[in-house]
Amino acid sequence: MTDTQQITLTLNGEAKTLKVSARTHLADALADAGSSLPVLGCEHGVCGACTLMMDGVSLRSCLILAVQADRADIQTVQGLQDSPVLQLLNAAFLKHQALQCGYCTSAMLITAHEWLNSQPGDISRQAAREVISGNLCRCTGYEAIINALVEVATRLRADPMDSQPKPAGPA
Ligand code: FES
Ligand code: FES
Repeated sequence: MTDTQQITLTLNGEAKTLKVSARTHLADALADAGSSLPVLGCEHGVCGACTLMMDGVSLRSCLILAVQADRADIQTVQGLQDSPVLQLLNAAFLKHQALQCGYCTSAMLITAHEWLNSQPGDISRQAAREVISGNLCRCTGYEAIINALVEVATRLRADPMDSQPKPAGPA
């Protein structure tokens, strides 16, 4: 008797069929399938490094089983590259030097992207600090990350159209 099960899911728009143990976490199953993201840190739900989007909601992929993701739509930060909000975040992270080793960054961007896409009412530094409080960074000291988040939040508040894809230009 085997506890291996077959699941199907979409990873960054690509359909995947995975054979997983009933006890395999989603993060490990995605790694076994060849995905470089998410990365793993604590594997205990503390550091947030494994954060990804599942059916439009961020979660820690070390805390859920792969079988719970059967038929789910999964996005890592690689799947958000066409998002105008992510592009603003990428630019702001570079401008403010909001990363050093980069290990936390993909998950940090997922969390920030979800927050900014929710059109938050409070875009203060304190609000940004609370948003990323579940994503640990051992390098930056957080101030640069907060600077980047607040800058993008302020820009989107001034011009919400910056969150929309730009219309294609003439061919
Ligand atoms: S690796 Fe999942 S929260 Fe740390
Ligand atoms: S940039 Fe190194 S852990 Fe955050």
